[in-house]
Amino acid sequence: MKSVLIGVVILAFAGGGGLKELTASSHEQDVVSGRVIYSTICIRCHGIDGKGEGQMKFTPPAADLTSAAVQSKLDARLFKSVHDGKSNTAMGAWREVLSDDEIWDVLAYVRTLAPQ
Ligand code: HEC
Repeated sequence: MKSVLIGVVILAFAGGGGLKELTASSHEQDVVSGRVIYSTICIRCHGIDGKGEGQMKFTPPAADLTSAAVQSKLDARLFKSVHDGKSNTAMGAWREVLSDDEIWDVLAYVRTLAPQ
């Protein structure tokens, strides 16, 4: 009897964290944490205002995160770009550096860069 109870408790713990990360809509995005991540990692290429005027220059250039070309993309698509990177560009895969939660946070910040 005791071992059954322990099993139930472990399952409850294991289930709690994982499921909510599966979809953007159920994720609580934290813009403040996203801004910290952005200014630590992304700013050197994408620039302080997201327009791609960071200190480092590339071919193709860092995307203008304020542009309609980027802002019109779905969350899931932008998540993939940050998670997996974009081949043959300087935009690397951040999945080893950032957790899924952190990617959603930084994307919440990227959304605030859109022109009002
Ligand atoms: C080493 C430079 C570099 C860094 C650091 C970098 N990026 Fe990029 N990023 C790029 C380049 C270059 C592109 C344009 C790729 C292309 O032409 O498709 C890009 C494109 C993008 C796009 C557009 C993707 C799309 O699907 O159109 C997003 C969103 C983005 N970056 C977000 C980020 C975020 C968030 C971070 C920080 C976690 C980050 N980038 C860090 C260079 C960088």
